[in-house]
Amino acid sequence: MIRKKGQFVRIDTPHTTLVLDPERGEAVYYGEKLGAACEFAAFAGAGRRIFTVFGRAGGTEHSVALYNADGGTTADFRLSRSRILAEKPALPDLPSSYGEGKTLELRYTDAPTKVALLLYFTAFEDSDVIAVSAQLCNGSKKPVRLRRLMSLQIDLPGAGYRVHTFEGGWARERHEEVRRLDSGVFVNQWTTGYSSHARNPFVVAEGDRGLFGFNLVYSGNHKEVFECDGILSTRVLIGMNDFLFDWELLPGESFAAPEAVMCYAPDEDALRSRMQAFVSEHIVRGKWKKRERPVLINNWEGTYFDFTEEKLLDLCAAAKEAGMELFVLDDGWFGKRDSDTCSLGDWQDNPEKTGGGLDSLAAKIREQGLAFGIWMEPEMISEDSDLYRAHPNYAMKIPGRVPERQRNQLMLNLADERVQNFIVRSVSDVLTRSGAAYLKWDFNRSMSDCFGKGVAAGEYFHRYMLGYYRVVAKLVKKFPNVLFEGCAGGGGRFDLGILCYFPQIWTSDDTDARMRVDIQRGTSYAYPQSTMGAHVSACPNHQTFDDNPLSARFHVACGGVLGYELDLTKLSAEERAQIKEQVSFYKENRKLLQFGEQHRISGSPAVEGFITVAKDASAAIAVVNILQVVPSQPDLFVRFAGLNPSAVYEVTQVGTDERFTAGGDLLMKGCLPLRSLWLEKRDKSCSGGIISRMYLIKKCKAR
Ligand code: DGJ
Repeated sequence: MIRKKGQFVRIDTPHTTLVLDPERGEAVYYGEKLGAACEFAAFAGAGRRIFTVFGRAGGTEHSVALYNADGGTTADFRLSRSRILAEKPALPDLPSSYGEGKTLELRYTDAPTKVALLLYFTAFEDSDVIAVSAQLCNGSKKPVRLRRLMSLQIDLPGAGYRVHTFEGGWARERHEEVRRLDSGVFVNQWTTGYSSHARNPFVVAEGDRGLFGFNLVYSGNHKEVFECDGILSTRVLIGMNDFLFDWELLPGESFAAPEAVMCYAPDEDALRSRMQAFVSEHIVRGKWKKRERPVLINNWEGTYFDFTEEKLLDLCAAAKEAGMELFVLDDGWFGKRDSDTCSLGDWQDNPEKTGGGLDSLAAKIREQGLAFGIWMEPEMISEDSDLYRAHPNYAMKIPGRVPERQRNQLMLNLADERVQNFIVRSVSDVLTRSGAAYLKWDFNRSMSDCFGKGVAAGEYFHRYMLGYYRVVAKLVKKFPNVLFEGCAGGGGRFDLGILCYFPQIWTSDDTDARMRVDIQRGTSYAYPQSTMGAHVSACPNHQTFDDNPLSARFHVACGGVLGYELDLTKLSAEERAQIKEQVSFYKENRKLLQFGEQHRISGSPAVEGFITVAKDASAAIAVVNILQVVPSQPDLFVRFAGLNPSAVYEVTQVGTDERFTAGGDLLMKGCLPLRSLWLEKRDKSCSGGIISRMYLIKKCKAR
């Protein structure tokens, strides 16, 4: 709810309050929800800004930097209009959150030039996340060059915040890092044209009053800045990266920065729940938003490029027998693609590998009782391709220079509308020909040699993203029934921009259960489990060369959307029977596992895991991962979360006869001993891996 109260505007969400003083451009309060009778005047004027402009304020980091129409390098933005809009205005050409809620629009004008800064704050009725965005309008008669426009600025009171970031690299995405900022500037950012494996745009500032989470609805270069003056306040800036950014705004033109989101919560569990619920309700959209996702078998780690129609049909037969529902044909089905050196852009099928062609292969797979899904990497081009031979100018490269290759490939220049249209045509053609129910959209390199004819260098990165969003918006509209899964060499583009179009994303190329524990824990801080693709793969694992028991691989994958990615035909009868049981259990409990409220559970230092709880807390499934077991160790213990403290539950350890009853309060506050771990580890003889337990928790009928 948004209300004006004298000089102040009060924005309330179900559990938080943000108070703004628009005239001063200040945030007076942000945190736990305040009572209705609050008076704010004594708290105003502390100088905690919601925007600042280079050239008119102290410190080094500001939300706006521009070469103004009067030839100067600053602007004096004064409040010229403030209004509450009944609906959230659409953000032109960019992904953004949606839903019922009011929006505060604040317009600040620079009187000498008539250049205006617009800030938007949206509060959704059912969410504790506030969406914030900024636009710059050139009302002058001369061009303006915009050098930075951050989407969100908020100055948090005090110093010494612990800044949480989610970092790593390929096959090691989103590991949580925490640094304390007592003074100076800390920047989390990426600059090579995608949100990246290495630094996710989601960040958290943890202070003594609680946690403030921030994220950006964008998939390109991003920047999250924390500047602490050492005593009084810590500035947070969230937005598109201004690295090499230089955008010309002609008279009458506007520039919209991507949307940012922020959320206050008193503790980590509440922040996770609030962020996850927001993404599920206000970011993910379309037919698959709340629909149970199919259990898939993907052939990548099972065959890589080396497959024939016969091999694929054998794999599908084994998958069907195990109860799986969707077959995904990964890389290698098109052009002459037997390795990663050629054919990107030639989306014609290779009959040697698909038998009679994609349409007949897809039909045969459907006859076997599985839906058909397909892999593409639409933004890329191989130099060894018919597409490159016909249209070398479609590639992203600088005339007269040899471009850098990554994974032997170049990128397409999506800033060019002809290229955008080519992608829409080629993806549409593949989906129509194959009747695919699912598309995995991959992206296996970062941008280099950025150049587009007629595109100013300082505008390139963002123009690429606008082209990308135009393409995916058209495709998801044209194919509303297709389940799209985002992917970028694993989890390199796991962000809210992608999730506005694709309801799920391949979390990481690392399918090792031990590595996935950390990757999925980090990812689930900001993104719900229904967005995270998670597959059971072969052992030894192809990325870490470690073994993990099949049960642990399954349990960990249940923390996301379950799939399998291994050659089922090479498994023993016993392993196949175990997988059949896993799939059947998963399908029976899929609604809870994919759409329940997921909480992290705690316990002894070597114990971690998650619990997914039904909305009414009548049922839950918990996965407890035991990361280290050594001889002569006292019983490790676990504490559950998210249950109803006054209910009594029956707890069954899945796959065993172990069963007990206990109150929700004891399950969450007590220390449940995990017995016989050492024996279990010995029996499963896993090397270097984890063991895990799964619990089915059901509320007992009232006695
Ligand atoms: C990277 C993806 O993350 C993998 O799952 C697989 O699709 C390969 N690309 C195929 O080239």
